[in-house]
Amino acid sequence: MLKSSFTTCVIVSEENKNAIIVDADKRGKYVVCMDPLDGSSNIDCLVSIGTIFAIYRKVSSGEPSEKDALQPGRNLVAAGYALYGSATMLVLAIESGVNCFMLDPAIGEFILVDKDVKIKKRGNIYSLNEGYAAYFDPAVTEYLKKKKFPQDGSSPYGARYIGSMVADVHRTLVYGGIFLYPANSKSPKGKLRLLYECNPMAFVIEKAGGIATTGNQAVLDIVPEDIHQRAPIALGSPDDVKEYIDMVKKHAAK
Ligand code: F6P
Repeated sequence: MLKSSFTTCVIVSEENKNAIIVDADKRGKYVVCMDPLDGSSNIDCLVSIGTIFAIYRKVSSGEPSEKDALQPGRNLVAAGYALYGSATMLVLAIESGVNCFMLDPAIGEFILVDKDVKIKKRGNIYSLNEGYAAYFDPAVTEYLKKKKFPQDGSSPYGARYIGSMVADVHRTLVYGGIFLYPANSKSPKGKLRLLYECNPMAFVIEKAGGIATTGNQAVLDIVPEDIHQRAPIALGSPDDVKEYIDMVKKHAAK
């Protein structure tokens, strides 16, 4: 569809090693980076999965190439995801904000159900794969300890991890809290891919008033060097993510 829509010139997909360059007679001005089916390891057990997309304008002149996709997330025109869960929802972030559209199968249309969505300032859920605890950076370990054994009289956070990024990020958008896939000693750059996982989700979360960071810099400020590169990520409610960033800073200063 994208290749024959007269809107795109370069398509980067999780499923293709090289970028797809659209035929000259069908080209448009947009570059699309996407993960067609994220969380696909969850299909057999019927856990929610999704499609993630990021849309840039081609900014170079001349023949379109893979390099046109190597833009920082700050340049995004639009980004979002479709979540195939107990309902199908399209979440679309554009410059002016985030809107959620639910598929009504009876009429075959996506209906605007949540307008200009904003994330909570602070949530009470943390979400990451704690099975990798043996490989965590000390900052992540101390941050999690703070969530589980708070010393300030507040209640411990709930733990939720689906292992399907679209579902975990959508819950974070709707309920608040923090989702992390940090770097660890086994995966020094984390696991998630910058162009079609981290950037689009960071764009959605920032447009909803949240924060998305690697721990050291805003995800959207990374200048990509490779279309399939990975990046560590922590995203969600601004107060939760700020607390995580402070923890990373504290450990970096040691
Ligand atoms: O990148 C694919 C993916 O399934 C994401 O949707 C999810 O967040 C992540 O991998 C889960 O990775 P892990 O199994 O290491 O927790």
